[in-house]
Amino acid sequence: MSESNSSARGSFASNFGFLMAAVGSAVGLGNIWKFPYITGEYGGGAFVLVYLGCITLVGLPLLYAEVIIGRRGGRDILGALRTLTRQSGRLGTAISYLTGMMAVVASFLMLAFYSVVAGWTVYFFVLAVGAIPGVEFGNPDVFDTMSTTASTATICHTVFMLMTIGVVTLGVHSGIEFLCKTLMPVLFAILAAMLVYVGFTAELGQSLAFLFQPDFSKLGSSAVLEALGHAFFTLSLGMGAMVTYGSYLKEEKRVIRDSVAIALLDTAVALLAGAVIFAVVFAKEGLEPSAGPGLLFRTLPALFVEMPGGRFVAAVFFGLVVFAAWSSAISLLEVNVAYAVDEFKLPRWVAAGGIGLCVWGLGVACAIGVTVGEVTLQDGLDDLVSRYLLPIGGLLIAIAAGWFVLPADSLSGFSHLPRSGNALGIAWRFLIRFVTPVLVSVVILWQVGAFDSWLKAEEPPAVREGELADPAVKQ
Ligand code: TRP
Repeated sequence: MSESNSSARGSFASNFGFLMAAVGSAVGLGNIWKFPYITGEYGGGAFVLVYLGCITLVGLPLLYAEVIIGRRGGRDILGALRTLTRQSGRLGTAISYLTGMMAVVASFLMLAFYSVVAGWTVYFFVLAVGAIPGVEFGNPDVFDTMSTTASTATICHTVFMLMTIGVVTLGVHSGIEFLCKTLMPVLFAILAAMLVYVGFTAELGQSLAFLFQPDFSKLGSSAVLEALGHAFFTLSLGMGAMVTYGSYLKEEKRVIRDSVAIALLDTAVALLAGAVIFAVVFAKEGLEPSAGPGLLFRTLPALFVEMPGGRFVAAVFFGLVVFAAWSSAISLLEVNVAYAVDEFKLPRWVAAGGIGLCVWGLGVACAIGVTVGEVTLQDGLDDLVSRYLLPIGGLLIAIAAGWFVLPADSLSGFSHLPRSGNALGIAWRFLIRFVTPVLVSVVILWQVGAFDSWLKAEEPPAVREGELADPAVKQ
Protein backbone atom coordinates (compact mmCIF):
# COMPACT_ATOMS: atom_id res chain seq x y z
CA MET A 1 0.00 0.00 0.00
CA SER A 2 1.52 3.33 -0.90
CA GLU A 3 1.06 6.29 1.35
CA SER A 4 1.70 9.73 0.02
CA ASN A 5 4.56 10.55 2.35
CA SER A 6 7.50 8.56 3.49
CA SER A 7 6.42 8.06 7.09
CA ALA A 8 4.79 4.76 7.94
CA ARG A 9 1.82 6.39 9.64
CA GLY A 10 0.45 7.96 6.47
CA SER A 11 -1.08 11.33 5.68
CA PHE A 12 -3.75 13.02 3.65
CA ALA A 13 -2.56 13.87 0.16
CA SER A 14 -4.64 17.01 -0.08
CA ASN A 15 -6.35 19.51 2.10
CA PHE A 16 -9.63 18.66 0.41
CA GLY A 17 -9.09 15.04 1.43
CA PHE A 18 -8.67 16.05 5.06
CA LEU A 19 -11.74 18.26 4.88
CA MET A 20 -13.93 15.52 3.42
CA ALA A 21 -12.64 12.97 5.94
CA ALA A 22 -13.35 15.33 8.84
CA VAL A 23 -16.77 16.22 7.47
CA GLY A 24 -17.36 12.50 7.00
CA SER A 25 -16.57 11.95 10.66
CA ALA A 26 -18.82 14.78 11.79
CA VAL A 27 -21.74 13.99 9.50
CA GLY A 28 -23.27 10.82 10.81
CA LEU A 29 -26.28 9.32 12.50
CA GLY A 30 -26.16 12.34 14.79
CA ASN A 31 -27.15 14.59 11.89
CA ILE A 32 -29.71 12.47 10.16
CA TRP A 33 -31.20 10.44 12.96
CA LYS A 34 -30.66 12.36 16.18
CA PHE A 35 -30.77 16.03 15.21
CA PRO A 36 -34.22 15.85 13.59
CA TYR A 37 -35.77 13.92 16.45
CA ILE A 38 -34.44 16.09 19.25
CA THR A 39 -35.40 19.19 17.26
CA GLY A 40 -38.87 17.70 16.93
CA GLU A 41 -39.04 16.97 20.63
CA TYR A 42 -37.96 20.44 21.64
CA GLY A 43 -40.33 22.19 19.30
CA GLY A 44 -38.21 23.38 16.36
CA GLY A 45 -36.91 26.89 15.63
CA ALA A 46 -35.87 28.08 19.07
CA PHE A 47 -33.96 24.85 19.68
CA VAL A 48 -32.20 25.23 16.33
CA LEU A 49 -31.13 28.73 17.26
CA VAL A 50 -29.66 27.61 20.57
CA TYR A 51 -27.95 24.71 18.83
CA LEU A 52 -26.32 27.10 16.36
CA GLY A 53 -25.10 29.19 19.29
CA CYS A 54 -23.58 26.10 20.94
CA ILE A 55 -21.83 25.06 17.74
CA THR A 56 -20.26 28.52 17.45
CA LEU A 57 -19.34 29.12 21.08
CA VAL A 58 -18.27 25.68 22.20
CA GLY A 59 -18.09 23.39 19.17
CA LEU A 60 -15.93 25.50 16.92
CA PRO A 61 -13.24 26.43 19.49
CA LEU A 62 -12.93 22.82 20.56
CA LEU A 63 -12.84 21.59 16.99
CA TYR A 64 -9.96 23.93 16.20
CA ALA A 65 -8.21 22.82 19.41
CA GLU A 66 -8.45 19.16 18.43
CA VAL A 67 -7.22 19.64 14.88
CA ILE A 68 -4.30 21.86 15.88
CA ILE A 69 -3.25 19.46 18.66
CA GLY A 70 -3.17 16.65 16.12
CA ARG A 71 -1.36 18.69 13.51
CA ARG A 72 1.32 20.02 15.86
CA GLY A 73 1.67 16.84 17.88
CA GLY A 74 1.86 14.69 14.77
CA ARG A 75 0.67 11.49 16.44
CA ASP A 76 -2.30 9.70 17.97
CA ILE A 77 -4.17 11.62 20.68
CA LEU A 78 -2.08 10.35 23.57
CA GLY A 79 1.24 10.82 21.78
CA ALA A 80 0.28 14.23 20.41
CA LEU A 81 -0.74 15.55 23.82
CA ARG A 82 2.35 14.10 25.49
CA THR A 83 4.56 15.84 22.96
CA LEU A 84 2.80 19.18 23.25
CA THR A 85 2.60 19.23 27.05
CA ARG A 86 6.09 18.03 27.84
CA GLN A 87 7.14 21.43 29.21
CA SER A 88 4.59 20.93 32.00
CA GLY A 89 6.45 17.92 33.36
CA ARG A 90 4.56 15.26 35.22
CA LEU A 91 1.31 17.15 35.28
CA GLY A 92 1.41 17.42 31.49
CA THR A 93 2.07 13.71 31.17
CA ALA A 94 -0.76 12.93 33.58
CA ILE A 95 -3.33 14.98 31.71
CA SER A 96 -2.13 13.53 28.41
CA TYR A 97 -2.62 9.98 29.64
CA LEU A 98 -5.97 10.72 31.20
CA THR A 99 -7.28 12.47 28.09
CA GLY A 100 -5.74 10.03 25.65
CA MET A 101 -6.92 6.87 27.37
CA MET A 102 -10.41 8.26 27.86
CA ALA A 103 -10.59 9.07 24.18
CA VAL A 104 -9.36 5.65 23.13
CA VAL A 105 -11.76 3.83 25.44
CA ALA A 106 -14.69 6.09 24.52
CA SER A 107 -14.23 5.65 20.79
CA PHE A 108 -13.86 1.88 21.21
CA LEU A 109 -17.10 1.62 23.19
CA MET A 110 -18.92 4.02 20.94
CA LEU A 111 -18.03 2.17 17.77
CA ALA A 112 -19.64 -0.98 19.19
CA PHE A 113 -23.11 0.48 19.60
CA TYR A 114 -22.79 2.91 16.69
CA SER A 115 -22.14 -0.04 14.40
CA VAL A 116 -25.30 -1.78 15.61
CA VAL A 117 -27.44 1.26 14.74
CA ALA A 118 -25.55 1.64 11.47
CA GLY A 119 -26.35 -2.02 10.81
CA TRP A 120 -30.05 -1.14 11.03
CA THR A 121 -29.54 1.48 8.34
CA VAL A 122 -27.82 -1.13 6.16
CA TYR A 123 -30.88 -3.35 6.66
CA PHE A 124 -33.30 -0.60 5.65
CA PHE A 125 -31.22 0.18 2.60
CA VAL A 126 -31.25 -3.46 1.48
CA LEU A 127 -34.94 -3.68 2.29
CA ALA A 128 -35.76 -0.54 0.30
CA VAL A 129 -33.84 -1.91 -2.66
CA GLY A 130 -36.19 -4.88 -2.48
CA ALA A 131 -33.58 -7.46 -1.67
CA ILE A 132 -35.28 -8.95 1.40
CA PRO A 133 -38.14 -11.13 0.18
CA GLY A 134 -41.19 -11.43 2.38
CA VAL A 135 -40.60 -8.25 4.37
CA GLU A 136 -42.71 -5.27 3.49
CA PHE A 137 -40.91 -1.92 3.36
CA GLY A 138 -43.06 0.72 4.97
CA ASN A 139 -44.59 -1.45 7.64
CA PRO A 140 -43.72 0.37 10.89
CA ASP A 141 -43.38 -2.92 12.78
CA VAL A 142 -40.45 -4.04 10.65
CA PHE A 143 -38.05 -1.98 12.72
CA ASP A 144 -38.95 -3.63 16.02
CA THR A 145 -38.87 -7.08 14.51
CA MET A 146 -35.48 -6.67 12.85
CA SER A 147 -33.72 -4.86 15.66
CA THR A 148 -34.83 -7.45 18.20
CA THR A 149 -34.09 -10.49 16.05
CA ALA A 150 -30.59 -11.41 17.20
CA SER A 151 -29.46 -13.03 13.96
CA THR A 152 -30.61 -10.19 11.71
CA ALA A 153 -29.15 -7.48 13.90
CA THR A 154 -25.87 -9.40 14.20
CA ILE A 155 -25.52 -9.96 10.47
CA CYS A 156 -26.14 -6.28 9.72
CA HIS A 157 -23.66 -5.19 12.38
CA THR A 158 -21.09 -7.64 11.01
CA VAL A 159 -21.45 -6.35 7.46
CA PHE A 160 -21.03 -2.80 8.66
CA MET A 161 -17.95 -3.62 10.77
CA LEU A 162 -16.34 -5.39 7.81
CA MET A 163 -16.91 -2.31 5.66
CA THR A 164 -15.32 -0.14 8.34
CA ILE A 165 -12.33 -2.38 9.05
CA GLY A 166 -11.72 -2.77 5.31
CA VAL A 167 -11.36 0.94 4.68
CA VAL A 168 -9.20 1.57 7.74
CA THR A 169 -6.90 -1.31 6.74
CA LEU A 170 -6.35 0.32 3.35
CA GLY A 171 -4.76 3.29 5.09
CA VAL A 172 -5.18 7.00 5.58
CA HIS A 173 -4.68 7.98 1.98
CA SER A 174 -5.81 4.97 -0.03
CA GLY A 175 -8.66 4.06 2.30
CA ILE A 176 -10.07 6.91 4.36
CA GLU A 177 -9.21 9.86 2.13
CA PHE A 178 -10.22 8.12 -1.07
CA LEU A 179 -13.56 6.95 0.28
CA CYS A 180 -14.53 10.24 1.91
CA LYS A 181 -13.47 12.31 -1.10
CA THR A 182 -15.79 10.19 -3.20
CA LEU A 183 -18.70 9.72 -0.80
CA MET A 184 -19.17 13.11 0.78
CA PRO A 185 -19.87 15.03 -2.44
CA VAL A 186 -22.34 12.28 -3.39
CA LEU A 187 -23.99 12.65 0.00
CA PHE A 188 -24.41 16.38 -0.50
CA ALA A 189 -25.79 15.86 -3.98
CA ILE A 190 -28.33 13.33 -2.72
CA LEU A 191 -29.47 15.68 0.03
CA ALA A 192 -29.87 18.54 -2.42
CA ALA A 193 -31.87 16.32 -4.78
CA MET A 194 -34.06 15.17 -1.91
CA LEU A 195 -34.76 18.74 -0.96
CA VAL A 196 -36.00 19.44 -4.47
CA TYR A 197 -38.06 16.25 -4.40
CA VAL A 198 -39.83 17.10 -1.13
CA GLY A 199 -40.29 20.64 -2.45
CA PHE A 200 -42.58 19.16 -5.08
CA THR A 201 -44.14 16.26 -3.24
CA ALA A 202 -44.35 17.23 0.43
CA GLU A 203 -44.70 20.17 2.80
CA LEU A 204 -41.32 21.87 2.54
CA GLY A 205 -42.69 25.29 3.50
CA GLN A 206 -44.19 24.01 6.71
CA SER A 207 -41.01 22.11 7.48
CA LEU A 208 -38.82 25.18 7.04
CA ALA A 209 -41.18 27.23 9.18
CA PHE A 210 -40.94 24.58 11.90
CA LEU A 211 -37.14 24.62 11.75
CA PHE A 212 -36.60 28.35 11.47
CA GLN A 213 -39.43 30.13 13.26
CA PRO A 214 -38.34 30.27 16.86
CA ASP A 215 -40.99 29.77 19.50
CA PHE A 216 -39.21 30.39 22.75
CA SER A 217 -42.10 29.28 24.88
CA LYS A 218 -41.14 25.69 24.14
CA LEU A 219 -37.58 26.15 25.21
CA GLY A 220 -36.51 25.13 28.69
CA SER A 221 -33.11 24.73 30.30
CA SER A 222 -32.90 21.09 29.41
CA ALA A 223 -33.31 21.99 25.73
CA VAL A 224 -30.29 24.27 26.05
CA LEU A 225 -28.26 21.53 27.69
CA GLU A 226 -29.37 18.97 25.13
CA ALA A 227 -28.28 21.37 22.37
CA LEU A 228 -24.89 21.80 23.97
CA GLY A 229 -24.41 18.05 24.36
CA HIS A 230 -25.43 17.47 20.78
CA ALA A 231 -23.02 20.14 19.51
CA PHE A 232 -20.23 17.92 20.85
CA PHE A 233 -21.61 14.73 19.50
CA THR A 234 -22.30 16.01 16.03
CA LEU A 235 -18.83 17.49 15.55
CA SER A 236 -17.18 14.25 16.75
CA LEU A 237 -15.52 16.09 19.61
CA GLY A 238 -14.20 14.82 22.91
CA MET A 239 -12.71 11.53 21.79
CA GLY A 240 -9.77 12.47 19.68
CA ALA A 241 -11.21 11.79 16.24
CA MET A 242 -10.35 15.26 15.02
CA VAL A 243 -6.95 15.09 16.74
CA THR A 244 -6.21 11.90 14.85
CA TYR A 245 -7.26 13.32 11.48
CA GLY A 246 -5.39 16.55 12.23
CA SER A 247 -2.24 14.50 12.76
CA TYR A 248 -2.36 13.43 9.09
CA LEU A 249 -2.33 17.05 7.89
CA LYS A 250 0.86 18.42 6.40
CA GLU A 251 0.53 22.08 7.42
CA GLU A 252 -1.49 24.32 9.67
CA LYS A 253 -2.22 27.06 7.16
CA ARG A 254 -5.80 26.05 6.62
CA VAL A 255 -6.77 24.71 10.02
CA ILE A 256 -8.94 27.72 10.92
CA ARG A 257 -10.69 27.79 7.58
CA ASP A 258 -11.19 24.03 7.65
CA SER A 259 -12.62 24.06 11.17
CA VAL A 260 -15.16 26.67 10.14
CA ALA A 261 -15.97 24.69 6.99
CA ILE A 262 -16.42 21.45 8.94
CA ALA A 263 -18.80 23.11 11.41
CA LEU A 264 -20.74 24.81 8.60
CA LEU A 265 -21.06 21.70 6.44
CA ASP A 266 -22.04 19.55 9.40
CA THR A 267 -24.70 22.06 10.39
CA ALA A 268 -25.89 22.33 6.81
CA VAL A 269 -26.38 18.56 6.60
CA ALA A 270 -28.30 18.48 9.88
CA LEU A 271 -30.60 21.29 8.76
CA LEU A 272 -31.10 19.83 5.28
CA ALA A 273 -31.84 16.39 6.68
CA GLY A 274 -34.23 17.97 9.15
CA ALA A 275 -35.93 19.98 6.39
CA VAL A 276 -36.40 16.85 4.25
CA ILE A 277 -37.62 14.65 7.09
CA PHE A 278 -40.10 17.16 8.52
CA ALA A 279 -41.42 17.98 5.05
CA VAL A 280 -42.30 14.30 4.71
CA VAL A 281 -43.78 14.14 8.21
CA PHE A 282 -45.92 17.25 7.71
CA ALA A 283 -47.25 15.91 4.42
CA LYS A 284 -49.33 13.41 6.34
CA GLU A 285 -52.27 14.77 8.25
CA GLY A 286 -52.09 14.08 11.95
CA LEU A 287 -48.41 13.28 12.33
CA GLU A 288 -46.29 14.88 15.01
CA PRO A 289 -42.75 16.09 14.37
CA SER A 290 -41.88 14.83 17.85
CA ALA A 291 -41.87 11.15 16.92
CA GLY A 292 -38.71 10.48 18.92
CA PRO A 293 -36.01 7.98 18.04
CA GLY A 294 -38.41 5.99 15.86
CA LEU A 295 -38.68 8.86 13.37
CA LEU A 296 -36.11 7.50 10.95
CA PHE A 297 -36.85 3.80 11.11
CA ARG A 298 -40.60 3.63 11.73
CA THR A 299 -42.28 6.84 10.65
CA LEU A 300 -40.25 7.66 7.59
CA PRO A 301 -40.44 4.34 5.71
CA ALA A 302 -44.21 4.29 6.23
CA LEU A 303 -44.46 7.75 4.71
CA PHE A 304 -42.05 7.18 1.86
CA VAL A 305 -44.04 4.32 0.38
CA GLU A 306 -47.04 6.60 -0.03
CA MET A 307 -45.12 9.17 -2.04
CA PRO A 308 -44.61 9.18 -5.82
CA GLY A 309 -41.49 7.15 -6.62
CA GLY A 310 -41.14 6.86 -2.87
CA ARG A 311 -39.63 3.43 -2.82
CA PHE A 312 -36.74 4.52 -5.01
CA VAL A 313 -36.30 7.71 -3.01
CA ALA A 314 -36.29 5.67 0.20
CA ALA A 315 -33.51 3.46 -1.14
CA VAL A 316 -31.43 6.50 -2.06
CA PHE A 317 -32.17 8.09 1.30
CA PHE A 318 -31.09 5.05 3.30
CA GLY A 319 -28.03 4.76 1.07
CA LEU A 320 -27.16 8.25 2.21
CA VAL A 321 -27.61 7.33 5.86
CA VAL A 322 -25.30 4.33 5.40
CA PHE A 323 -22.63 6.60 3.83
CA ALA A 324 -22.90 9.04 6.70
CA ALA A 325 -22.60 6.33 9.35
CA TRP A 326 -19.76 4.59 7.51
CA SER A 327 -17.45 7.61 7.31
CA SER A 328 -18.10 8.33 11.00
CA ALA A 329 -17.39 4.77 12.09
CA ILE A 330 -14.15 4.82 10.15
CA SER A 331 -12.91 7.77 12.17
CA LEU A 332 -13.90 6.07 15.42
CA LEU A 333 -11.84 3.01 14.54
CA GLU A 334 -8.99 5.20 13.32
CA VAL A 335 -8.60 6.77 16.80
CA ASN A 336 -7.79 3.31 18.15
CA VAL A 337 -5.73 2.21 15.17
CA ALA A 338 -3.59 5.37 15.27
CA TYR A 339 -3.02 4.74 18.99
CA ALA A 340 -1.92 1.15 18.36
CA VAL A 341 0.24 2.06 15.36
CA ASP A 342 1.92 5.09 16.96
CA GLU A 343 2.31 3.86 20.52
CA PHE A 344 2.93 0.15 19.95
CA LYS A 345 4.29 0.16 16.42
CA LEU A 346 1.78 -2.43 15.30
CA PRO A 347 1.30 -2.81 11.55
CA ARG A 348 -1.89 -1.05 10.46
CA TRP A 349 -3.65 -4.19 9.28
CA VAL A 350 -2.98 -5.99 12.56
CA ALA A 351 -4.29 -3.02 14.54
CA ALA A 352 -7.36 -2.56 12.37
CA GLY A 353 -8.17 -6.28 12.30
CA GLY A 354 -7.47 -6.94 15.98
CA ILE A 355 -9.23 -3.89 17.39
CA GLY A 356 -12.03 -4.29 14.85
CA LEU A 357 -12.57 -7.86 16.00
CA CYS A 358 -12.83 -6.80 19.66
CA VAL A 359 -15.26 -3.99 18.82
CA TRP A 360 -17.25 -6.43 16.72
CA GLY A 361 -17.54 -8.80 19.68
CA LEU A 362 -18.84 -6.07 21.97
CA GLY A 363 -21.22 -4.98 19.22
CA VAL A 364 -22.58 -8.52 18.90
CA ALA A 365 -23.36 -8.44 22.63
CA CYS A 366 -25.31 -5.22 21.96
CA ALA A 367 -27.02 -6.62 18.88
CA ILE A 368 -28.28 -9.76 20.57
CA GLY A 369 -29.75 -7.69 23.37
CA VAL A 370 -27.50 -8.46 26.33
CA THR A 371 -28.68 -6.51 29.36
CA VAL A 372 -26.75 -5.16 32.29
CA GLY A 373 -29.09 -4.90 35.22
CA GLU A 374 -32.15 -3.05 34.01
CA VAL A 375 -30.78 -1.55 30.80
CA THR A 376 -29.67 -3.09 27.56
CA LEU A 377 -25.95 -2.98 26.86
CA GLN A 378 -26.74 -0.99 23.72
CA ASP A 379 -28.51 1.82 25.59
CA GLY A 380 -26.11 1.64 28.52
CA LEU A 381 -23.07 2.16 26.31
CA ASP A 382 -24.79 4.95 24.39
CA ASP A 383 -25.60 6.71 27.65
CA LEU A 384 -22.16 6.19 29.13
CA VAL A 385 -20.39 7.52 26.06
CA SER A 386 -22.69 10.29 24.83
CA ARG A 387 -23.68 11.63 28.21
CA TYR A 388 -20.51 11.24 30.24
CA LEU A 389 -17.33 10.22 28.42
CA LEU A 390 -17.79 12.64 25.54
CA PRO A 391 -18.27 15.82 27.58
CA ILE A 392 -15.58 14.78 30.06
CA GLY A 393 -13.21 14.11 27.16
CA GLY A 394 -14.09 17.52 25.71
CA LEU A 395 -13.44 19.20 29.03
CA LEU A 396 -10.02 17.53 29.34
CA ILE A 397 -9.07 18.48 25.78
CA ALA A 398 -10.13 22.10 26.39
CA ILE A 399 -8.05 22.22 29.58
CA ALA A 400 -5.05 20.63 27.90
CA ALA A 401 -5.28 22.97 24.88
CA GLY A 402 -5.92 26.10 26.92
CA TRP A 403 -3.68 25.62 29.90
CA PHE A 404 -0.95 23.09 29.01
CA VAL A 405 -0.13 23.40 25.32
CA LEU A 406 2.19 26.33 24.60
CA PRO A 407 0.60 29.24 22.72
CA ALA A 408 3.32 28.85 20.09
CA ASP A 409 1.66 25.56 19.20
CA SER A 410 -1.97 26.19 20.00
CA LEU A 411 -2.10 29.54 18.19
CA SER A 412 -0.11 28.41 15.17
CA GLY A 413 -3.27 28.08 13.08
CA PHE A 414 -3.95 31.80 13.46
CA SER A 415 -0.58 33.06 12.32
CA HIS A 416 -1.42 32.55 8.66
CA LEU A 417 -4.45 34.78 8.82
CA PRO A 418 -4.33 38.43 7.82
CA ARG A 419 -4.11 41.08 10.54
CA SER A 420 -7.32 40.09 12.26
CA GLY A 421 -5.69 36.74 13.07
CA ASN A 422 -4.16 37.98 16.32
CA ALA A 423 -7.41 39.21 17.74
CA LEU A 424 -9.15 35.99 16.74
CA GLY A 425 -6.40 33.97 18.38
CA ILE A 426 -6.79 35.91 21.62
CA ALA A 427 -10.56 35.39 21.47
CA TRP A 428 -10.09 31.66 20.86
CA ARG A 429 -7.71 31.32 23.79
CA PHE A 430 -10.14 33.09 26.06
CA LEU A 431 -12.97 30.80 24.96
CA ILE A 432 -10.99 27.59 25.31
CA ARG A 433 -9.49 28.50 28.71
CA PHE A 434 -12.60 29.85 30.38
CA VAL A 435 -15.86 29.66 28.47
CA THR A 436 -15.67 26.13 27.07
CA PRO A 437 -14.60 24.46 30.34
CA VAL A 438 -17.35 26.23 32.28
CA LEU A 439 -20.10 25.43 29.78
CA VAL A 440 -18.98 21.82 29.39
CA SER A 441 -18.81 21.43 33.17
CA VAL A 442 -22.40 22.62 33.36
CA VAL A 443 -23.40 19.90 30.88
CA ILE A 444 -21.57 17.27 32.91
CA LEU A 445 -23.20 18.42 36.15
CA TRP A 446 -26.58 18.32 34.43
CA GLN A 447 -25.90 14.79 33.21
CA VAL A 448 -25.12 13.60 36.70
CA GLY A 449 -28.38 15.11 37.88
CA ALA A 450 -27.03 18.10 39.79
CA PHE A 451 -29.80 20.37 38.50
CA ASP A 452 -32.65 17.89 38.67
CA SER A 453 -34.69 19.51 41.38
CA TRP A 454 -34.29 22.88 39.75
CA LEU A 455 -35.35 21.60 36.32
CA LYS A 456 -38.24 19.52 37.53
CA ALA A 457 -40.66 22.40 37.72
CA GLU A 458 -40.21 23.07 34.01
CA GLU A 459 -41.37 21.31 30.86
CA PRO A 460 -43.61 18.34 30.70
CA PRO A 461 -41.82 15.40 29.06
CA ALA A 462 -42.10 15.49 25.27
CA VAL A 463 -43.93 12.78 23.35
CA ARG A 464 -41.38 10.01 23.00
CA GLU A 465 -42.24 6.94 21.07
CA GLY A 466 -45.65 7.95 19.76
CA GLU A 467 -44.51 8.22 16.17
CA LEU A 468 -47.92 7.85 14.60
CA ALA A 469 -49.33 10.10 17.24
CA ASP A 470 -52.98 10.65 17.88
CA PRO A 471 -54.29 13.28 15.44
CA ALA A 472 -56.02 14.98 18.35
CA VAL A 473 -52.68 16.02 19.79
CA LYS A 474 -51.45 17.70 16.66
CA GLN A 475 -50.39 21.21 17.54
N1 TRP B 1 -20.37 12.93 14.75
C1 TRP B 1 -20.96 11.66 14.62
C2 TRP B 1 -22.41 11.82 14.23
O1 TRP B 1 -22.90 12.91 14.12
C3 TRP B 1 -20.89 10.83 15.86
C4 TRP B 1 -19.64 10.90 16.63
C5 TRP B 1 -19.50 11.38 17.87
C6 TRP B 1 -18.38 10.50 16.23
N2 TRP B 1 -18.20 11.30 18.27
C7 TRP B 1 -17.52 10.78 17.28
C8 TRP B 1 -17.91 9.97 15.07
C9 TRP B 1 -16.16 10.53 17.18
C10 TRP B 1 -16.58 9.72 14.97
C11 TRP B 1 -15.72 9.99 16.00
O2 TRP B 1 -23.08 10.84 14.04
